[in-house]
Parts: sequence; C-alpha cells; structure tokens
Amino acid sequence: MPAVVPHLTLNNGVEIPQLGFGVFQVEPSRTAEVVLDAFEAGYRHVDTAQMYKNEAGVGEALARSGLDRSDVFITSKLSNASHDPRAAHDAFERSIDALGTPYVDLFLIHWPMPKVGDFVETWQALEALYGTGRIRAIGVSNFTEQHLRRLAETSAVTPAVNQIEVHPYLSQNPLRAYGREHGIVTEAWSPIAQGKVLSDPELVRIGGEHGRTPAQVALRWHLQRGDVVFPKTTHRERMAENLALFDFELADDEMAAIEALDRGLRTGAHPDEFNWVPED
Ligand SMILES: NC(=O)c1ccc[n+]([C@@H]2O[C@H](COP(=O)([O-])OP(=O)(O)OC[C@H]3O[C@@H](n4cnc5c(N)ncnc54)[C@H](OP(=O)(O)O)[C@@H]3O)[C@@H](O)[C@H]2O)c1
Repeated sequence: MPAVVPHLTLNNGVEIPQLGFGVFQVEPSRTAEVVLDAFEAGYRHVDTAQMYKNEAGVGEALARSGLDRSDVFITSKLSNASHDPRAAHDAFERSIDALGTPYVDLFLIHWPMPKVGDFVETWQALEALYGTGRIRAIGVSNFTEQHLRRLAETSAVTPAVNQIEVHPYLSQNPLRAYGREHGIVTEAWSPIAQGKVLSDPELVRIGGEHGRTPAQVALRWHLQRGDVVFPKTTHRERMAENLALFDFELADDEMAAIEALDRGLRTGAHPDEFNWVPED
C-alpha cells in the first residue's frame, strides 16, 4: 500500500511526493531488492544519481514492481565527470538507459564544481534536455545562494529544487529562505545526518513525548518545515519507521527546540570546496 505522503508543487506545476527513499551508498548489486522493499513499504519517490552507480538497480526494481511509471517519482543527478554540455547530453542518455524509463521526473546538477568549470553552461544543457520533454523538472544540488544568484542572472529556467545537506545540526535557514523567495523547493539530504543526530537528548526527549523514535522526530521536523526528504536505509523495519510520520505533529516549542540544535555541522563537503571528479 502506498503511504499517504503529501505532495508539493514545483515551480513548473509538477508534483513531488514530500517524502522519498534515498539510495546513496546502497550497493549496486543490492539496489533492486532494496528499492523493491521500499516500494512494498509504500515509498513512491526514489532519489538516485549517476555517481551512485545504482540507477540500473532502481530501473530493475521499477520494472519488477509492476507499478505504473506515472505512480513513481524518480530523481537522478548529473555526474561531476559530465559537466561539459556535450558530455551532459550523453550522460543523460545513459541514465535513461540504466533506469529503463523514457523520462525522469527530476534531473539535477549534482555539485556546482565552481573551481572546475562553468556550471551555467551545464545548466543550459539541462535546459535543452528539459525542452525535449524527457525530464519533467530540472534542478540543482549543493548550490549556495551565490551559485543560485548567478543562475538567476544568466538563465531562462529557475531550478525547481536545490538539494542540500540539511538536518537538525545544519538547519540552513538563509539558503532555504532564498529558495522559498524564488520558487525553489529545498530538498534535505542526509536528513538524519547519517545517524549522527539520533542520540541527541532533545530528539530523544521529544520522541518520548510522542512515542516516536529520534529518526521520526527529525524527519517530521523536516516535513513541517516544508522541505522534501528521502532518508536512506537498507532495513525493512527502518523503511516502515521512516514512513510513519503522518499521524503525529510537533508543537511550535518542539520545532523551536530542534531549530536550536543547529551547530553548522556538515557530514559532507562544502560546495565551494568539493571538486571531485570520478574516473568515468
Ligand atoms: N545531493 C547530494 O550531494 C547528496 C549527498 C548525500 C545524500 N544525498 C541523498 O540523500 C539521501 C539520504 O542521505 P544519506 O543516505 O546520506 O543519509 P541519511 O538518510 O541521513 O542516513 C542514512 C543512515 O542512517 C541509517 N538509518 C536510516 N534510518 C534509520 C533509522 N530509522 N534508525 C536508525 N538508523 C537509520 C542508515 O543505516 P541502514 O542503511 O543501515 O539502515 C544509514 O546509515 C541519500 O540516500 C541520497 O539520496 C544526496
């Protein structure tokens, strides 16, 4: 049974389920089984990327699930190795082949790579692909406000989303506010900081009040802030746990207590400093 997950409307009218399933660090050989488990748990939104090397597993799960393509929202992201516009077009074709689907719902520039090349040209390649109708919405990931402003000055299409690291220890409120003011939905990656927030006493305390786990409290906080989230787990019981978020609500003082946990802690790289290019 699909869970009752609310949808948000992106700036081009496309609807995105606010809660999805992330597959970063899911072994390519295990991805089909894990995503099939996620579909069975009720997830209908999968976040993958070329650099995760598991798009084929997502495609296999989609095919084996028997679900209608239109019932599943799939995001993929352009590899750091393919920022050159010609390479971006070729890489998109490889994504489509691996996913085994005629279109992707959302396609993102994974990292801005500001010291390596010009992401404006890469964005123009995504705009051209969007124009073919084989991508329902385009967006960016790991863009700072400065990067978003540069795109706004140079480009025709406003990104539908900016996918950035956000969790209770990194609340990212100025960048989220910029997105809100400009019609860019924030997607929160590593929403439980890869597990680092789960023993936080405040999350444990608030969870105790509601009979919920710290993971559920953190994920519910993201949803009430209006961001999109896609926690990753390979365990079925955690898939169910991370989806059971729609029958309780955090009070204003609990939301504020979680906001106060912000300590600027990044589990991943800073976008201005991450310039890693994979071999492929
Ligand atoms: N755009 C980007 O640059 C970027 C970067 C990072 C992530 N992402 C996206 O965001 C998604 C989520 O981020 P993430 O995978 O880095 O981290 P995350 O979802 O914050 O945390 C995943 C970790 O938490 C554990 N976990 C999950 N649910 C749990 C629960 N209920 N209780 C206890 N432990 C739990 C998982 O372990 P088990 O698997 O062992 O259960 C895994 O070790 C990724 O899969 C990817 O789609 C994007």
